[in-house]
Amino acid sequence: MKWMKVFLAAMAVPAMLFASGTAFANEGGVALKPVEVDPADQAQIRRGLTVFTEVCMGCHSAKYVTYKGLIDYPEIAITREQADELRGDKPLAAGMITDLSPEDATVSYGKVPPDLSLITSARRGGAKYVYSILTGFEHDPHGKVPDGNFNEYFPGHRIAMPDPLGWLDHDKSDEAELLQQAQDVSAFLTFISDPHQNERRHIGMFVMGFLLLLTLVLYLLKREVWKDVKH
Ligand code: HEC
Repeated sequence: MKWMKVFLAAMAVPAMLFASGTAFANEGGVALKPVEVDPADQAQIRRGLTVFTEVCMGCHSAKYVTYKGLIDYPEIAITREQADELRGDKPLAAGMITDLSPEDATVSYGKVPPDLSLITSARRGGAKYVYSILTGFEHDPHGKVPDGNFNEYFPGHRIAMPDPLGWLDHDKSDEAELLQQAQDVSAFLTFISDPHQNERRHIGMFVMGFLLLLTLVLYLLKREVWKDVKH
């Protein structure tokens, strides 16, 4: 049954592409720290949202995520009251924009903190990159970069972001909590960089299921139509 082989081969192509994509995602550079993020885990994404609004948004925006989106995406689905609390007097349709002006940021940090809406798609390693940066503040082994600006995982090792979670010199007893915060916010950022991925996956599964069923029906039909014809 040649066509069956062709069909199965065609199905294998997307699977292979997916596998190679993940394998090469972290090629070269410093090895990033592994982290588990699940873009369908609502509890994790919601905890990440809290870290984002309470810590990161002091400096960073996520301009493509609206307060309305936080209510509408099933993976977040906060209540209208929670959204109202977060947005203050900003419109529901506004993006999540930091109150820190670019001018003040330049004065304080010498740089404007980048928008984080798409950061996990834009950087090699995605969630692993963000997680590694947040837990990568160390004392410069060569003593050149001032404390708080040396980061093992940032290109060039000198970062203008002041250690946001307080990783440098943290107490051992706080370590689990800091790792958790870094993981959660990495999950949130992974989700917002592609908020329709779960929906797409569901549609994809449905289409695959439909095509398989259709194949079966057509095969049975073919057998029925040809059953009396001698080969
Ligand atoms: C006090 C201000 C401030 C806070 C708070 C802050 N950041 Fe930053 N962040 C910066 C600045 C400034 C940069 C630019 C660093 C550079 O280019 O040297 C930056 C850069 C980054 C980068 C690297 C971006 C790149 O270009 O590769 C990531 C990732 C990041 N921040 C994530 C976060 C996350 C997640 C949080 C919250 C847990 C956070 N930041 C909190 C100021 C801040």
